[in-house]
Amino acid sequence: MIPFVNLTAQRDAYRRELEAVEKRVLDSGCYIGGAEVRALEEELSCYCGAAHTITCGSGTQALELALMVLGLEPGDQVIVPDFTFIAPAECVQKLRGIPLFADIDKSTLQIDPESVKRLAGPRTKGIIAVNLFGQCAPYEKLREIANENGLWILEDSAQAFGAIQNGKKACTFGDISITSFYPSKPLGCYGDGGAIFTSNPEYAEKARLLANHGSSERYRHIEIGVNGRLDALQAAVLRVKLRHLDEELERRQQNAKVYDRFFEDAPGLTPQAIATGNTSTYAQYTLIAENRAEFISRLEKAGIPHCIHYPSPLHAQPCFNTASAGPATDSGCLITEKTCTQVLSLPFCAFTDTQEVVDRLK
Ligand SMILES: Cc1ncc(COP(=O)(O)O)c(C=O)c1O
Repeated sequence: MIPFVNLTAQRDAYRRELEAVEKRVLDSGCYIGGAEVRALEEELSCYCGAAHTITCGSGTQALELALMVLGLEPGDQVIVPDFTFIAPAECVQKLRGIPLFADIDKSTLQIDPESVKRLAGPRTKGIIAVNLFGQCAPYEKLREIANENGLWILEDSAQAFGAIQNGKKACTFGDISITSFYPSKPLGCYGDGGAIFTSNPEYAEKARLLANHGSSERYRHIEIGVNGRLDALQAAVLRVKLRHLDEELERRQQNAKVYDRFFEDAPGLTPQAIATGNTSTYAQYTLIAENRAEFISRLEKAGIPHCIHYPSPLHAQPCFNTASAGPATDSGCLITEKTCTQVLSLPFCAFTDTQEVVDRLK
């Protein structure tokens, strides 16, 4: 059976390095925060070019903390993509903000700047841009709209640590940016983990404070914060995997090319387009299948696992149906509606034998 994401092959590849650091941390008696976490934060900053990195407990927690840093207040509107994992819209709603759901571009599947423009109004405070499936969102256009409307940008790079747009690394496009270290992410640990990135020293200080129960001095709490700590063991694992990230991203490019070549001549099957100037991490290799049921049955006959990212527009999730008028969308987000009925992701990671997948499909 071909695994959808082959995390055991990755562990086998770095086993000696991983076991050495795991032993080091377990023998150290220091399990939360400390030198491993500080070193990881420096190495992450160095890798992506963000001046400040603050690690925390998950990507979702990083989003929530980032919204708190940006000062989101009840009733504030935030534009989010309708087609993505729930976390960005969930965090807005959890802090009693109002998510406005923007539609996507039908080929890149990224948030559509024109849709964002139509949604921005006097009560709108910001945009959460998601780097979907590993490709950066269209930041040049989003920044123009943000500037015209006095909005901040929160970059959700949960799926795209290591992605590049016009020579600049992901996690540096937002006023504040986040990533996730969920195990199957392009840079993943062995549990939950996340990080916040910013070039703004005030945001960095506030994020660090909020992630530590609102405290910068032991047992003195100046804000209501959260327990937003990363384990030392996760930090140590991430430091090993970060050293291998560039070679893995290169292998992901090669693996994606094998799929790309196959689908060039496959009628009714169109991979997510990668916009000019972008290098994707391919957190997912996702395509549009005009007849998805037929393609799924072909995959199943060939023993190829698959996933649907995502089966429903966010605006259709019951949890957002709280206002009598229903959730606010850009004219019902019709492209997202259709995409959700056609989209499908194939097995993919740096250790996936994509040639074997393609051979089984022939
Ligand atoms: C776009 C996006 N944002 C946020 C998250 C949340 O990250 P975590 O699972 O680490 O909380 C995810 C996780 O899949 C995601 O895909």
